[in-house]
Amino acid sequence: MHLPSLPLHCLALKHIRSQHLDSFNPSLHNQRCVADIYSIAYIKGHSMFRFTALLLTLITLTTAPLLAQEKSVKPGINKSFESPDVPKFIERFEREGRDVFDHQKEILAALALKPGMKVADVGAGTGLFTRQFSPRVGPCGKVYAVDISEEFTSHIKKTAKEQGLTNIQTVVCKPDSVELPPNSVDLVFICDTYHHFEYPYKTMRSIHRALKPGGEVVLIDFQRIEGVSDEWILGHVRAGQEVFTKEILDSGFVQIDEKLDLLDESYFVRFRKQ
Ligand SMILES: C[S@@+](CC[C@H](N)C(=O)[O-])C[C@H]1O[C@@H](n2cnc3c(N)ncnc32)[C@H](O)[C@@H]1O
Repeated sequence: MHLPSLPLHCLALKHIRSQHLDSFNPSLHNQRCVADIYSIAYIKGHSMFRFTALLLTLITLTTAPLLAQEKSVKPGINKSFESPDVPKFIERFEREGRDVFDHQKEILAALALKPGMKVADVGAGTGLFTRQFSPRVGPCGKVYAVDISEEFTSHIKKTAKEQGLTNIQTVVCKPDSVELPPNSVDLVFICDTYHHFEYPYKTMRSIHRALKPGGEVVLIDFQRIEGVSDEWILGHVRAGQEVFTKEILDSGFVQIDEKLDLLDESYFVRFRKQ
C-alpha cells in the first residue's frame, strides 16, 4: 500500500481549505477535519491509522462535489409556494390574528428604517412588509422584494406600480441564494421565512455577501418549544430560536439585539455582519 507523497497530500489539504474559506459549509468542514486527521497520521506514522486516514481522505475527495451540495433541511416545506394561489395567500398573510400582522406597527418601529437605506425583504410573500418599507426608505432608498416564487414577486411588482412605489425592485431568487448584488444592502429582513430556508447555510452566506460591511439581519420567526408549542408549529417549523441563531452565528454574524415581548408567538432578533 503506497501513500501519496507528502506534497500531493498538502495539495489536497490546500484545495479543501480553500473551498472551506470560500464558502462556509459544514460538509467541507468535515472534509477539512479528515484531511487534518491524515496530517496527524503522517506525523504519528501509525500504519493502520495511516491506511484508514488515507481511505477516508480519498473517499472524501472523490465525493467532495456531492457533499458540497448541502441537502435540503426540510424537503417539501415550500411545496405550497411552487405555483401559489396569490389571493389565497393574501388572505392567509394579511389577516388579523396573525402575530406579525397584528404587530406591524411595533415591528416597523423596532426596525427603525431611515431614508436612503437599502433593505431586502427576503421571503417577501405577498408584500405585506415590502410596501410599508418603501415610504420609510424614501426615494433615495431601495427595497428589494426577494422570493423564490415568481407569482409573489409579480404580484408585488403589480401592486407597487399601482401604488406608485417606485423604489421597490423584485428579485426571484434561488432556494439556496438570495441573488442580490454583493455589498448592496444595509438590512435584510426575514419574517416567518427562515424556517422555509431549505439550505440555510448557503442562503445565509448569500445574505452575508449581499450585505454592506456592518450590515444587519432582522429575524422574526415562530417560538418553537417542545411540550409548549402547538402541534402545527412543532411539525412545520424545523427548529427553535437557539438552533436558528447558531446557524446564523456560524454564517458570520453576531447577535446585537433582541426585542423581548414585542410579539406574542414569535421572536425578533437582530444580527450584524462580521
Ligand atoms: C410564510 S411566508 C412569509 C411571507 C412574508 N415574509 C410575511 O411575513 O408576510 C414565507 C415566504 O418565504 C418564501 N421563501 C421560501 N424559501 C425561500 C428562500 N430560500 N429564499 C427566499 N424566499 C423564500 C416563500 O415563497 C414565501 O413567500
